[in-house]
Amino acid sequence: MAFPRSRSRRLRRTPALRAMVRETQLRPDQLVLPIFVGEGQNGPQPIAAMPGVSRHTVDSAVELARDAASVDVGGVMLFGIPLDKDPEGSGAWADDGVVQQASRAIRERVDGLTVGADLCLCEYTDHGHCGLLDGHGGVRNDATLALLARTAVSQAEAGAEVLYPSDMMDGRIGVIRDALDAAGHEDTVLVAHSGKLASAYYGPFREAAGSTPAFGDRRSYQLDPANGDEAIREALQDVDEGADLIMVKPAGPALDLIRRTKEATRMPIAAYQVSGEYSMIKAGAAAGYVDEAAVMRESLTAIRRAGADVIATYFAIDAARALNPAA
Ligand code: PBG
Ligand code: ZN
Repeated sequence: MAFPRSRSRRLRRTPALRAMVRETQLRPDQLVLPIFVGEGQNGPQPIAAMPGVSRHTVDSAVELARDAASVDVGGVMLFGIPLDKDPEGSGAWADDGVVQQASRAIRERVDGLTVGADLCLCEYTDHGHCGLLDGHGGVRNDATLALLARTAVSQAEAGAEVLYPSDMMDGRIGVIRDALDAAGHEDTVLVAHSGKLASAYYGPFREAAGSTPAFGDRRSYQLDPANGDEAIREALQDVDEGADLIMVKPAGPALDLIRRTKEATRMPIAAYQVSGEYSMIKAGAAAGYVDEAAVMRESLTAIRRAGADVIATYFAIDAARALNPAA
């Protein structure tokens, strides 16, 4: 139908009409808050490259999780920063590791929130890579799988209900799934980071987690940001191996991959608005260039519109508050 019978602006005239036909909704319970938990700290330590984000103690992580739950945020994703690192990253599967302690504490002391844990070795290895080294500057795939499986079981044992393998080793989802099943954790949810790009947007996170690789980069295991078909192949494989959700990361710079992964898999899709996306919005707002609350909301809405069901974001509490001002 042509103008003047067809007038798109009719449905844009009032706030009530616009709300009635709005296609994309953003709800607090779709948001997941990443939390950094550091070992051996006296209190929360602000992260310079991520304004408003701190490395927490187990106790302050519980407080933060409680704040998140009180505004209906859906879940937390725990990252551990150990005091001691070694070539294998053995802190990752320590019974009394920081993530294990924080998982237990949050499960015991906070209701109505899903407790999740990042599953990788890079925060625990002294070289900062996501797997075992081969001595020639490479990362060993198959030998790393057993360590990831061991970490998964340890995290599940500590009460983590959702695990987020972010290492990008081939075959990890199947090996982790088998290990969880064998240990009686068949209900543990796996969010496979299938579409994890070798992204420059992770810069601030590496400062936060102290996980910058001591040499080289992660391009031999993370996806080339130029590749879309490869991300889809990886997603289909991970579904086959037993993934429950598929993660695309970063989110804003990969909206097309969110959409394509959704269409190719019909699985629930998670997207991670990563540290660089967060810090750039914070910096732009601090400089007075953009309106923080408005850009936060628009960026999250765009990620949902692209097809993400779940969004991990450092804005989770702020966004939930903005969506539900009464809470
Ligand atoms: C590593 C990991 C990274 C992030 C989450 N898990 C960074 C990396 O690959 O170096 C980045 C998250 C963010 O930037 O917020 N397994
Ligand atoms: Zn890693």
